[in-house]
Amino acid sequence: MAFESKIKTIEWIGNISRIIDQTLLPYEFKTVDIKTCDEMYSAIKDMLVRGAPAIGIAGVHGMVLAALELGEKIKDKKLFLEELNKKAQYLKSSRPTAVNLMWGVDKQMELAKNINGSIEEIIKNLKANGIKLENEDIEINKRMGDYGASIVPKGAAILTHCNAGALATVGYGTALGVIRSAYAKDPTIKVFADETRPRQQGARLTTWELTQDGIPTTLITDGMCSYFMSKGMIDMVVVGADRIAANGDTANKIGTYTVAIAAKYHNVPFYIAAPLSTIDISIKSGNEIPIEERSHEEVTHINGDWICAKEVNIINPGFDVTPHELITGIITEKGILKPDFKESIKNAFQN
Ligand code: MRU
Repeated sequence: MAFESKIKTIEWIGNISRIIDQTLLPYEFKTVDIKTCDEMYSAIKDMLVRGAPAIGIAGVHGMVLAALELGEKIKDKKLFLEELNKKAQYLKSSRPTAVNLMWGVDKQMELAKNINGSIEEIIKNLKANGIKLENEDIEINKRMGDYGASIVPKGAAILTHCNAGALATVGYGTALGVIRSAYAKDPTIKVFADETRPRQQGARLTTWELTQDGIPTTLITDGMCSYFMSKGMIDMVVVGADRIAANGDTANKIGTYTVAIAAKYHNVPFYIAAPLSTIDISIKSGNEIPIEERSHEEVTHINGDWICAKEVNIINPGFDVTPHELITGIITEKGILKPDFKESIKNAFQN
């Protein structure tokens, strides 16, 4: 059974993409209408829209916006496709780690190249495909939710890191989708949400999202997870992913690797919940995943205020890679993949 979430993070309406501005949460709920490809590039880069599947659909919508703009100026189809391809590369350069962005943009580019008809036909098809992929994202999350809920023990305390919720997808969520589906079956489950420094997606977004749905949630700081595991207070970990290599190594928000090590030490099952569009079978291992370097200000400041000596050195990778050996299973829309991940991932793509 699915537990409905009212949050729609990104939605195509007429000729615009409407997104929730996540930089304002939890203080203010505001949507923004994205009308051009440039605006979509900035919305992804500045993280108004964030989370791997959500930026995948943002890329899909960005391509429709690009096609609409180019269609106004260019009448030659070959030139139109060349210019659209430049926009595709531009959109893909907005953030490097989440492969869903590349997946969404490439899907639209492939479709555009394969349409035999006019530029108008291409635009019509890109729009229709955008709406289809948007709707599919929610369906896929609900399917993952059902698979995931089947392995959540009764009354479990589930730890999650960052925000892999409705806000990180079109709706419902991946890791939080599993939690929503589990809660629908068993309202005695509870959630521990890591704060997730430096940008605090756990504190700002996950607690906002889960408490909206009345799901019992306790906020902890990132360093507390092993303490609660050692006390037997965490039964399982479920997190999302930004890119999974063919061997199961998984990039997710910085700090996920630490949680996975703590979970292994304390024998707490550690699950990833992610759609197949997050799996990059073109790369053999996590070593090949590009890690986004983010602004130093995310570390030196909280809510605009300095929190450290101004002379200190800063380094701020946005993601880390959890080695596949630390992962109990990967919850996908095709079922729960188990080690050996090389085999189970290959099979998931074949069936
Ligand atoms: O930098 P962000 O906020 O885009 O990072 C998001 C995450 O790391 C999520 O955990 C991941 O994208 C999974 S979303 C379903």
